[in-house]
Amino acid sequence: MNQAKKIISVLSGTAQAVPPIWLMRQAGRYLPEYREVRAQAGSFLDLVYDPERAAEVTVQPVRRFGFDAAILFSDILVVPHVMGADLRFAEGEGPRLAPVQTMQALQGLQAMPDRVDQVMQTVTRVREKLAAEGFDQTTLIGFAGGPWTVACYLVAGSGKDHNFETVQKIARDDPEFFDALVARITAVTIDYLQGQIAAGAEVVQLFESWAAAATGDLFDRYVVSPTRQIVAAIKQTCPQVPLIGFARGAGPRLADYAQIVGMDGLGLGQDVDLATLNQTARPHQAVQGNLDPEILVAGGAALERAVQKILDQTWGRPHIFNLGHGILPHTPIAHVERLIQLVRA
Ligand code: CP3
Repeated sequence: MNQAKKIISVLSGTAQAVPPIWLMRQAGRYLPEYREVRAQAGSFLDLVYDPERAAEVTVQPVRRFGFDAAILFSDILVVPHVMGADLRFAEGEGPRLAPVQTMQALQGLQAMPDRVDQVMQTVTRVREKLAAEGFDQTTLIGFAGGPWTVACYLVAGSGKDHNFETVQKIARDDPEFFDALVARITAVTIDYLQGQIAAGAEVVQLFESWAAAATGDLFDRYVVSPTRQIVAAIKQTCPQVPLIGFARGAGPRLADYAQIVGMDGLGLGQDVDLATLNQTARPHQAVQGNLDPEILVAGGAALERAVQKILDQTWGRPHIFNLGHGILPHTPIAHVERLIQLVRA
């Protein structure tokens, strides 16, 4: 009865004949039951800070599809929000933050630690609900943004400038400020993840969604180095908790990211060519992701071919089936059901 949960064994390096599956952004607008709770909550942030409702939407996709993991319903921008940044989600526009671009602005932020408590209550509530509903093989994944990605949003104030040119310029022109910013984000992130683990998260994932914008020497300084600090801190206090790192769009730098000691799982965007996996991932490192979310929208024979190709190319390796990025809001539910059948067949 005491067998390890599938995702935990994959992350400890054991390949499974049938890979476990979950989807990034699996709680979201493509689900009518999510839209209903979201409407009751009011704004997106109201939902994030409402432990009962946030726990409910976390469990919804597990209940509907039987995924092997639940991912905490929250957002990577909770960390800047906890640091005191002004954050809003304008309908249909994505996040907006009051930009922090100088040492003075950084020092002027007033930490809001109370915001963390709501998230920790959500984590605990999810574990209770999963247990009460009999999902005893489902793993609860906690998460945070990668420090570079969080810094990109804080400095740019939104995700609109996809190359984050302003961020790159400030990082290069004022390294003293940027070092301090990333150090602060890193420290808050460590506390935040340790809190999630204490509250019941069994795995943690770092979403470095804007890794592609960390060009040249910025990658080592602001992606690899702070990530190494986070992973080392978690491994020191919570050695039993596996970590997954997802440096989306890192390109040839993904191999350096994969080498970070203690990074048990490596997230793969749809841009990664699985034929090159042996040069990127470490030998027993679990890999997760790669299915293009647009192919899930398309469905049909294209989906069947893409799933088979991923299964073939990851065969024999510890592997967690997932998308290469978050599920799109217009994804048909029937295609998600089909995907799960294909993977579990
Ligand atoms: O995966 C999950 O189901 C867990 C919840 C989760 C959300 N955001 C909920 C959310 C997770 C893990 C995230 C991570 C996140 N948030 C990332 C990293 C992953 C990635 O997509 O690259 C980033 C960059 C963000 C920042 C963010 N939050 C953006 C850019 C947006 C707007 C885009 C959009 O889809 O509307 C959000 C809002 C957001 N976060 C929604 C959800 C379900 C949609 C809000 C709504 O319900 O209206």
